[in-house]
Amino acid sequence: MKILVTGGTGYIGSHTVVELHNAGHEVVAIDNFDNSYPDVLDNIEKITGKKVVFQKVDIRDKKALTDFMLSQKGIDAVIHFAAFKAVGESVQNPLKYYENNVGGTVNLLYAMEAAGISQIAFSSSCTVYGEANPPVDESTAKPEAQSPYGNTKQICEEVLFDYTKASNLKVVSLRYFNPVGAHDSSLIGELPIGVPNNLVPFITQTAIGKREVLTVFGNDYPTIDGTCIRDYIHVVDLAKAHVKAIEFLEQKKYSEAYSVFNLGTGQGNSVLEVIQSFEKVSGEKVNYKIGPRRGGDVIQIYANCDKATNVLGWKTERDLDNCMQTAWAWEKHLAQK
Ligand code: NAD
Ligand code: UFG
Repeated sequence: MKILVTGGTGYIGSHTVVELHNAGHEVVAIDNFDNSYPDVLDNIEKITGKKVVFQKVDIRDKKALTDFMLSQKGIDAVIHFAAFKAVGESVQNPLKYYENNVGGTVNLLYAMEAAGISQIAFSSSCTVYGEANPPVDESTAKPEAQSPYGNTKQICEEVLFDYTKASNLKVVSLRYFNPVGAHDSSLIGELPIGVPNNLVPFITQTAIGKREVLTVFGNDYPTIDGTCIRDYIHVVDLAKAHVKAIEFLEQKKYSEAYSVFNLGTGQGNSVLEVIQSFEKVSGEKVNYKIGPRRGGDVIQIYANCDKATNVLGWKTERDLDNCMQTAWAWEKHLAQK
């Protein structure tokens, strides 16, 4: 298949481009480098031996996006990663998030229609479940979103669902749990700009000496050790799920025009367990302290992924230790650069 990947130089997008190439698909990637760098393209080529067909396009620019899509022949499906993802920033600047994440998605749908493309996989998030009783499956009710970022994911899911009723569009919404880790080559990985918000880059940056101390946000939650529980999924496992999702669309395995899949491991781990796993595989001590709870954190969430396993034929192959090992190798690679 020929796949257009938006946000193709980003964290999950770059790993997915690699897995699409590995599976023999042809890829065209676009990005505006708002949260990634052009050298990712060279690094993908080093991994796969294949040059990435790429164009710098901003999905907020409807005309440029449409012109680009019309210039491309034979695209079978789109995987749509391009979005802003910082929860805190979305609270400070909600319009920026609605414009890019929702407006950009609407532009993309118009451009796809103009180019006659009717299959899309969309990056959604377990944030749509809010504080639900885990393990959560796809039928779990979606409460009111807790941030403008989370709301953009809910709105985009609704936009896509509604549009399937008015067109021949076929959609797979993929609800990611917590993507972590990096490619085994250490050539691509997550590049948090500034101080990381997320746990794993904060751990690795503390261990390498870029940050003085990691604050564990609360140890008085009703969990095994008092810290919050999440479902940490390796980014390569996640990337492989996108290949399955696209093939599911192409082989018309869906029963409805709009399908949703959870992508996690099905396993919950506490913040302290993640730190312990990191210390075990790296041999480094993490300087951490217990701090107050962070506003907006859910106590615990992890996925029921039976649907992805049964319908897509996908399940994770890597464990938390491997997530930490590859995240650490990536951090050391960045330090050498
Ligand atoms: P990322 O920031 O690394 O990648 C997103 C890419 O999109 C970046 O390269 C950025 O430059 C690009 N982009 C942003 N706005 C653009 C625009 N207007 N035009 C063109 N390109 C644009 O983020 P990621 O972690 O790879 O996330 C990918 C998708 O998955 C996002 O939609 C995100 O909301 C979603 N998601 C991520 C997580 C996570 O924890 N990483 C969890 C759930 C869902
Ligand atoms: N945590 C700390 N200290 C830190 C950072 C995080 O203790 O410095 C804790 C958090 O309190 C939470 C856990 O580590 O309990 C995980 O936090 P992350 O920020 O890494 O991840 P979240 O689950 O809060 O959210 C992430 C993304 C969201 C996305 C969600 C689901 O940031 O955008 O996963 O995919 F929606």
